[in-house]
Amino acid sequence: MKYVIGNIKMNLVSSAEMERYFKAFKNEIKGKKFGKTEIVVCPPFVHLKDFVREIKNKKVSIGVQNVFCEKSGSYTGEISPVMAKNIGAEYSIVGHSERRNYFGENNKLINLKIKALIKERMMPIFCFGETLEERGAGLTSQIIFSQILEGLEGVSSSGLEKIIFAYEPVWAVGTDSVPTSNGIMEVKILIRKILAERYGIKYSQKAVILYGGSVKEKILGQVCLDPGMDGVLIGRESLDPHEFLKIAEILNNY
Ligand code: PGA
Repeated sequence: MKYVIGNIKMNLVSSAEMERYFKAFKNEIKGKKFGKTEIVVCPPFVHLKDFVREIKNKKVSIGVQNVFCEKSGSYTGEISPVMAKNIGAEYSIVGHSERRNYFGENNKLINLKIKALIKERMMPIFCFGETLEERGAGLTSQIIFSQILEGLEGVSSSGLEKIIFAYEPVWAVGTDSVPTSNGIMEVKILIRKILAERYGIKYSQKAVILYGGSVKEKILGQVCLDPGMDGVLIGRESLDPHEFLKIAEILNNY
């Protein structure tokens, strides 16, 4: 199974924009089959109900971009996994670099969120990756190692099977820089090695590992097909249903 996940981020600000998006999405997906690809779209919370009503179906699943780690209570401004699930979300992005960077999320909090999602039987889309400075200082492996192991603290091997891993080099998110195929493949091997040491080879080989950061159709070979990734996490390009579903189609037919 391949995964094509769209992160709408803080976009589609007006109802008119959202309606345009739905119209284009429905138009583009009509008549297409995606038997080997799971398509997931992650809208802002305020649009969750609309997305579930308008585009969730056998071909498209819905996720959220963030959740809190508690189920309910006095946590002003937060949304719990079960609340998102009750509306129809099956996935949640966790540990996105924008949350780490602008909202100070650390590995400890990300770990609590991952465990809260697994408990609710939702699939965490667990993002990690090095910054440009870390890369420049030769710290890529070390950073990925600690982000993954600290993020998975206390997660059992059965929990591991519910997680989607997304390698997103921070310097490639929202920019137009992308790593080479070899660079991505090296990180994929590193991730499998970290997981094999912790959970055993059987679980490590089954782990779903995506690439994210400036994904576009024209570089899909470089960032996904050539390095043998299980799919992509797409930001800006997911705002255009034509481009987004074209990528899903290519992966599905590959
Ligand atoms: P981008 O975002 O595709 O706009 O670089 C990717 C992401 O944030 O997951």
